[in-house]
Amino acid sequence: MTLHTEEEQQPNQVVMTRDLNNKSLLQSHELYQYILETSVYPREPQCLKELRQLTAKHPWNFMAIPADEGQLLSMLVKLIGAQNTMEIGVYTGYSLLATAPVLPHDGKGNNKGAYDFVFVDADKENYLNYHKRVIELVRIGGLIGYDNTLWYGSVAAPPNAPLMDMEHIKRNRPFVLELNKALAIDHRIEICQLPVGDGITICRRLS
Ligand SMILES: C[S@@+](CC[C@H](N)C(=O)[O-])C[C@H]1O[C@@H](n2cnc3c(N)ncnc32)[C@H](O)[C@@H]1O
Repeated sequence: MTLHTEEEQQPNQVVMTRDLNNKSLLQSHELYQYILETSVYPREPQCLKELRQLTAKHPWNFMAIPADEGQLLSMLVKLIGAQNTMEIGVYTGYSLLATAPVLPHDGKGNNKGAYDFVFVDADKENYLNYHKRVIELVRIGGLIGYDNTLWYGSVAAPPNAPLMDMEHIKRNRPFVLELNKALAIDHRIEICQLPVGDGITICRRLS
């Protein structure tokens, strides 16, 4: 996997980075830092801040969701009053911790068929399989979040784009494209795809 430093970044080039302070598809590094410094880091709970700083030292730290995405998930869980949640793909647990502390004390994670919120951030080749199962586990009106649905920007990149040389990106891109198509035509859900982090598609179950 090739990783680019900020210094190597070219205009309009999609960059994969190990810097958790710069994990965004926004083309302006300054604008993204503005969001983090103004609205995200000052409101980040201490336990999340410590986890983020610890995770930053891990060699696979690019797997963690960025803090602004954690803030979004935390808000969503509160908005729907989620009590039963599930996460597929945990790593060091930033997204889990961003959603878990807001749960009421009686919140449980094992009520099959009655989940309010499910976050999927695991092996991309199984995203469609997860969707087939998770859609039946989440309640009507509940939410499913699929992470990485813009896949480093590769979903809209031409076949000869430099990032297609990265095996990890090239290998998983078809699965992400497949998921995006399936979600777009799935009438059981309402969807909203946001360019937060590496792209997140929020699905609300309708039927
Ligand atoms: C991108 S990371 C998740 C990052 C996490 N959301 C965070 O914010 O730190 C993906 C995780 O999914 C796990 N994973 C991969 N395949 C899986 C599978 N089949 N079932 C469960 N977890 C899986 C990996 O071990 C890894 O911990």
